Amino acid sequence: MKRKVTKAVFPVAGMGTRFLPATKSVPKEIMTLVDRPLIQYAIDEARAAGIKEFIFVTAKGKSALEDYFDCSPHLESELRKKGKTDLLETLKATNMDSGAIAYIRQQKALGLGHAVWCARRLIGNEPFAVILPDDVIAGETPCLQQMVEAYAETGGNMVAAMEVPHEKTKAYGVLDVQDDMGSMVSVKGMVEKPEPDDAPSNLAVIGRYILTPKVLQNISKAKKGAGGEIQLTDAIAEEIGKEDGGVYGYRFRGQRFDCGSKAGFLQATVAFGLARDDLRDEFSDYLTEMVALQNAAQ
Ligand code: G1P
Repeated sequence: MKRKVTKAVFPVAGMGTRFLPATKSVPKEIMTLVDRPLIQYAIDEARAAGIKEFIFVTAKGKSALEDYFDCSPHLESELRKKGKTDLLETLKATNMDSGAIAYIRQQKALGLGHAVWCARRLIGNEPFAVILPDDVIAGETPCLQQMVEAYAETGGNMVAAMEVPHEKTKAYGVLDVQDDMGSMVSVKGMVEKPEPDDAPSNLAVIGRYILTPKVLQNISKAKKGAGGEIQLTDAIAEEIGKEDGGVYGYRFRGQRFDCGSKAGFLQATVAFGLARDDLRDEFSDYLTEMVALQNAAQ
C-alpha cells in the first residue's frame, strides 16, 4: 500500500548570493512576488497537496523566515479594530497550526542532498515531498498536488520534469528516459548539471520531489557529486530500477519560473501581476506603453 505524503521539506539554507545586496539582510525566500513572499507560494502549494507537516532546513541569517510564520496578535487586533476583514483573511493564510512547522539548521553548506538529509529524523520512515521555493510554478492544479495524484498510481520516487533548451542542461538535474508515457516517464538514469554534450536528454528536474525514505539512507553514504556537493539527484538515481522504488519523471501542467535568477524573478513578477484582478488593467497598460517606448527607441 502506498502511504499518504503528509510531510514536506523546504530547503531554505542557501545564501541567495545572486540577489545581493538584498539578501544581505532579507532571506531570498522572503522576497516578494507581488505581495506574497516566495515561501508563501511554496506553503500554499504544499497545503493544496495535503501536506500537514512543514520542515524547513534553514541556516544562519534566516530568522526573518521563522518570524514570518508567527502569529501577529498586535497587527491582527489593529486590523480588526479598523474593520479590515480582507487583510485579516490574507494574514490567516500565513498562520500555521501549532507544531506543524519545524526548523532544522544545516550547519554547513554541503549541498541540496545534505540539506534534505538534515531533516531525516523528522521525516522518519515514510515518503515525503521536497519543495524548492525558488521554483515557482503557476498552474490551475498546483504542481505538487498533480504529483501526489500521479504518485498514488506509481509509488516509488517522483521528480517534477520539464523540457529545457538543450544548452541549459548545465543548470539542472537531467533525466535519461526509459519509457515515455506522456505526462509520466520512467527513468533509467539521472545526471546532475551535465554539459549539453553529455546530457542524456533535455528533460530537466524541477524543484518538486516525492521521495522514499531510502533516498535518505543513500545520502548517508553519499560522496560529493557535481560541484563538490552532496547531490539529491545522485541519491535518487540510486533508486532507479529498485523493485520497491523506481524513479519517475512527471511532466507537470503549469508554468515554472526560476525565481533563483533575476530574469526569472522579473518574469514571475510580470506573470503574477497580470494574473491579479486588482492589478491587471493598470499593469498591462503600463507594460504595453513600456514595450512601445522600447520599440520606438530601437
Ligand atoms: C537543484 C537540483 C537540480 C534541479 C534544480 C531545479 O539545483 O540540484 O537537480 O534541476 O534544483 O531548480 P539548483 O538550482 O539548486 O542548483
